[in-house]
Amino acid sequence: MSSDGIRRVCVVGASGKLGQYLVRQALDRGYEVVGVCRERSVAKLDAFAGRITVVPGPTNDPAVIGKAVAGCDGVLTVLVPWGVHQYSSGTAQAVLDHADPGARLVFSCGWHVPRDENDHYTRRFRATVRITSRLARLARVIDVDDQVEAARRIYASDRRWTLVRASDLEEGESQGLPVWRRHVGDPVLASNLTRRVDFALFMIEALTDDSLIREAPAIVGRLAPSAQGAATTSP
Ligand SMILES: NC(=O)c1ccc[n+]([C@@H]2O[C@H](COP(=O)([O-])OP(=O)(O)OC[C@H]3O[C@@H](n4cnc5c(N)ncnc54)[C@H](OP(=O)(O)O)[C@@H]3O)[C@@H](O)[C@H]2O)c1
Repeated sequence: MSSDGIRRVCVVGASGKLGQYLVRQALDRGYEVVGVCRERSVAKLDAFAGRITVVPGPTNDPAVIGKAVAGCDGVLTVLVPWGVHQYSSGTAQAVLDHADPGARLVFSCGWHVPRDENDHYTRRFRATVRITSRLARLARVIDVDDQVEAARRIYASDRRWTLVRASDLEEGESQGLPVWRRHVGDPVLASNLTRRVDFALFMIEALTDDSLIREAPAIVGRLAPSAQGAATTSP
């Protein structure tokens, strides 16, 4: 057992870019790691062979999730809006339904998912999301509305959840823990850029930060110009 009370964590969506950062950082903290990913993507986790348990399967399959999250103190879920078959909401629901009672549940999404009416978006941001969503849905590739539905189910849950809403992402060395604000539109978030490795760091830290329970923090890189000088831990 690690000193922070977390012993075993499940990473749902472990094979993607964010998922692999989560796996690496969880292992670095001494956690036991169970990863869930699609069967075809298991090889993407070869670098962790022998160090993690992999449960292959669709992340919206309750049986797959039930098996993977059993005995986990924390579940880190990468919510992605792929396809048009409720992949995001099905994944969130499976985690909410099957995680151990008391487990810390941390989910990922983007700023485009609102927390409430106090999130303020620029006209340009709203137009971009609207056009991209429509085109992607027409092409039956992505269903952004289903990620919003996933968030709605998380918000309605009495579980110990956090939904981390990220700005645009980039690769690069860690800059440290991102800055967060409760609502999109806060000037501190204006730079709209976070390193993906630090998105993972924020999610891992959230496992042991009870002040983030039932919050949907909107994050930005701590070295982003708009965040310079802002407090890093609470809004
Ligand atoms: N990209 C951005 O700029 C951005 C901005 C803000 C927030 N976010 C959030 O960050 C998180 C990670 O997103 P990311 O863009 O960085 O991608 P990512 O970490 O590479 O993750 C992509 C995930 O989607 C899965 N996936 C890909 N195609 C799929 C399909 N057809 N059906 C089902 N699953 C599929 C991948 O699984 P496989 O390994 O099996 O392919 C992988 O787990 C998400 O929650 C996203 O909403 C992203």
